[in-house]
Amino acid sequence: MPLQPKPTPQIPDSVLQSFSLKGKVAVITGGGTGIGYQVARAYAEAGADVALFYNSSSKAIDLAKGLEKEFGVKSKAYKVPVTDSKIVTESIEQVEKDFGRLDIFVANAGTGGGGPVTEMTDEQWHRVIDVNYNSVFYCARAAGRIFKKQGYGNFIVTSSMSAHIVNRPITQATYNGTKAAVTHFAKSLAYEWKDFARVNIVSPGFFDTDMGAAPEVLDVAFDTAVLGRQGNTKELKGIYLYLASDASTFTTGSGESLFAAFWIALLFVCLFFSPINGCHVALFFGDLMSRNAEF
Ligand SMILES: NC(=O)c1ccc[n+]([C@@H]2O[C@H](COP(=O)([O-])OP(=O)(O)OC[C@H]3O[C@@H](n4cnc5c(N)ncnc54)[C@H](OP(=O)(O)O)[C@@H]3O)[C@@H](O)[C@H]2O)c1
Repeated sequence: MPLQPKPTPQIPDSVLQSFSLKGKVAVITGGGTGIGYQVARAYAEAGADVALFYNSSSKAIDLAKGLEKEFGVKSKAYKVPVTDSKIVTESIEQVEKDFGRLDIFVANAGTGGGGPVTEMTDEQWHRVIDVNYNSVFYCARAAGRIFKKQGYGNFIVTSSMSAHIVNRPITQATYNGTKAAVTHFAKSLAYEWKDFARVNIVSPGFFDTDMGAAPEVLDVAFDTAVLGRQGNTKELKGIYLYLASDASTFTTGSGESLFAAFWIALLFVCLFFSPINGCHVALFFGDLMSRNAEF
């Protein structure tokens, strides 16, 4: 018997309406600063109730109050060190109790992992792995249990261009490795959760936050990016809203890369300066195509 297609979800006729998050509940880790806060603002503006998870930035408490006032939604901050599996699980369950449901989870918290591997201690290595990789598993497990029970959900991971390219001149093999790991973890999860949730990845290039280009690499960042600057966090709001909303109901397992300018520049370098040009170009195009495919 031929395979029957799954039913198409309800899709609004109005494209603008499909971006609405009215009635939805979102959690954003690292929600009190940088990229995470802008994502929270975008979701609140689109009508979602938002829970901001923070660790050291207690200003998240006032930011949540500000979102309530500015956008007329419900918002609350929770202190959640994402490296603590028990607190992560309990906090996500608490959000479900406080807000009544969970539609969108953005695993965005992260930390840098600079330094030559030969000089790193075990503790430094484990810290980067804990914050950037283990935490995504803890969040996915707890959010996924709720998504599965509900029959719907949407999980978005903040990865990095460093999952795909090797930044220079800084050495951050540890950070790059964790971002590559969460990227493939999330792609794989998209398959595992295909019956009840969508999973997507955002890979920013350099954005002007505490984790953006360090002063000593600013010159290289400006030079390598075709647009000649770092991104402003507001320039990420659109892609996170797209992935969280019904505008992207046919998108799962995709990696949305916001560093095309870096690719172009690196491709140019490969084409003209590599002794094995063909091979490098094929690798770049292969990588590009695999990211645009669903799997
Ligand atoms: N900016 C860039 O150029 C860039 C490029 C590619 C990817 N990214 C990724 O974007 C994400 C957000 O970074 P950002 O640029 O917005 O920088 P940021 O403002 O420094 O944000 C990092 C966030 O991670 C949270 N965090 C760190 N360790 C934590 C822990 N143990 N428990 C809970 N939360 C923790 C921080 O929370 P507290 O402040 O409350 O401690 C902070 O809100 C990160 O995953 C980063 O790797 C950034």
